[in-house]
Amino acid sequence: MTDQKATLNIGEESYEFEVRQGSVGPDVLDISSLYKQSDRFTFDPGFTSTASCESAITYIDGDAGILLHRGYPIDELAENGDFLETCYLLLYGELPNKEQKADFVHRVTNHTMLHDQMIKLFSGFRRDAHPMAVMVGVVGALSAFYHDSTDITDESQRMVASMRMIAKMPTIAAMAYKYSVGQPFVYPRNDLDYASNFLHMCFAVPAEDYQVNPVLARAMDRIFTLHADHEQNASTSTVRLAGSSGANPFACIAAGIACLWGPAHGGANEAALNMLTEIGTPDRIPEFLERAKDKNDPFRLMGFGHRVYKNYDPRAKIMQQTTHEVLGVLGKTDDPVLDVAMELEKIALEDDYFKSRGLYPNIDFYSGITLKALGFPPEMFTVLFSLARTVGWIAQWKEMIEDPKQKIGRPRQLYTGPTKRSYVSLDKR
Ligand code: SDX
Repeated sequence: MTDQKATLNIGEESYEFEVRQGSVGPDVLDISSLYKQSDRFTFDPGFTSTASCESAITYIDGDAGILLHRGYPIDELAENGDFLETCYLLLYGELPNKEQKADFVHRVTNHTMLHDQMIKLFSGFRRDAHPMAVMVGVVGALSAFYHDSTDITDESQRMVASMRMIAKMPTIAAMAYKYSVGQPFVYPRNDLDYASNFLHMCFAVPAEDYQVNPVLARAMDRIFTLHADHEQNASTSTVRLAGSSGANPFACIAAGIACLWGPAHGGANEAALNMLTEIGTPDRIPEFLERAKDKNDPFRLMGFGHRVYKNYDPRAKIMQQTTHEVLGVLGKTDDPVLDVAMELEKIALEDDYFKSRGLYPNIDFYSGITLKALGFPPEMFTVLFSLARTVGWIAQWKEMIEDPKQKIGRPRQLYTGPTKRSYVSLDKR
C-alpha cells in the first residue's frame, strides 16, 4: 500500500482512490468504489489497463522481457529444474527439497490412470475430431467421475483434484492423440518420469518395445516448463472467472482449455506452423509480410506479437534453442520450415512495422517446429500447451479460492442498445 491517492475530477465532482503498490511492477488504482462514489463504470474492453486480481504466482515485465515464477526466472527453471519441480513451486510457492520433491513426484505418478469407464467417452467422438474438442469434453467429464474431490471448500479435496489433473492430463492428451490416429491406448507407466511417460503413451505400440530418447524427453519436459503459467492471460482469466462462481475445478479447467484453443491464444502454435508451411520458401516471405501489414487483410503473422511482451518473449529464446537441439538429435536440421522461420524472424525484426509496434516472436513461433519434429501433428500442439498450462490454471484457481476477499466476478457494460419501448403486436409490424 502507498500513502498516495489518485483524484478523479469530473466537472465539479471529485473522487479519491487509493494507489496500491505490488512487490514489483506497475502500481494500481483501487477503483472498486468508483461506481458507488460516482455512479459510473470504467471502460476497458480487452482489459488492456486493468488488473483483475492480486497474485503472488507469476510476474511478467513485457518491456524488459522478464518472466518470473514465484520470483525465479523462467530460463533458470527451464535450464536447471524440471516440470514437476516447477509445478510444486507454482502450487506451494517454494522450490521443493529432496523429500518434498520425491513425495510430490510419487503422488503425481500414482494418479496418472483414468477411471476405466472414461475410456468409453472417446468412442463417442469422430476419429477426425480436433483433439482439443476431445480435451474439453473429457476433462469436463472428470467431474462426473471424481466426486470425492469436487468440494472446493475442502482444502484436502482441492489438493486431490489438483494432483489428479496434473497427473491425468498427459494420459488424456495421449489418448486423444491415439484415438485420432486409430491406435490402441497405451497405459501410463510408473517407472517412467513425467515427460517420458507422456511420450511413451503417445508413441509406443503394443507390437514392439518403445524406448524413449532421453534427450527428446528432456526437451519435452522443458517445453512443459515454458508453458506452465503466464499471469492473467485469457485462459487463466477464464478459469478464475469460472471458479469465482464456485464451479468444480474440473469444469473450470475445461473452460480454460476451451479458451486456450483460440488462434489468438494457445491455438497460435498450430496456426504458426500452418503459416510457415503455407509460406513454404523464404522467397515468399515478403508477400506474407505485406499481408500482415494490410489492415484490410485479416492475416496476422502467427507466433508474433503479444499483449504484454513488447520485447522478446523470454520463453521464445529458450524455445528456439530447444528447437535446434531437437532437430539436431533427430537429424532434421535441413527442415525447410525452420529455414522459413529463421528468415521470417530476421526480416520481421528489421521491419519498421513490427519494430514500431513491439511485435517479436512469442513462444508459439518456434514451438510448432519442435513439436512437429517430435512426431506430433499440428492439431496436437495446443493440446500439449493445455497439458502444461493445467498447473498454472490450477495454481491461479487455488489462489483465488483461498483469497478471503474473493467474490464472484461480474463485470458491467456501456449499454448502447435501444432505450425502453413498448411491445408492437404482430399485425402492426
Ligand atoms: C499466447 O496473454 C498471454 O500471456 C498469452 C500467452 C500465454 O502464455 O498464455 O503468452 C500465449 O497466446 C501468445 C500469443 C499467441 N498469439 C499469436 O501469436 C497470434 C498472433 N498475434 C496477434 O494476434 C496479437 O499480437 C496478439 C493477440 C497476441 C496480441 O494482440 P494485442 O495486444 O491485442 O495487440 P493489437 O491487436 O492491439 O495489435 C497492436 C498492433 C495492431 O496494429 P495497429 O492497429 O496499431 O496498426 O499490432 C498489430 C495490430 O494490427 N499486430 C500484428 C500482429 N499482432 C499485432 N500485425 C501483424 N501480425 C501480428 N501477429
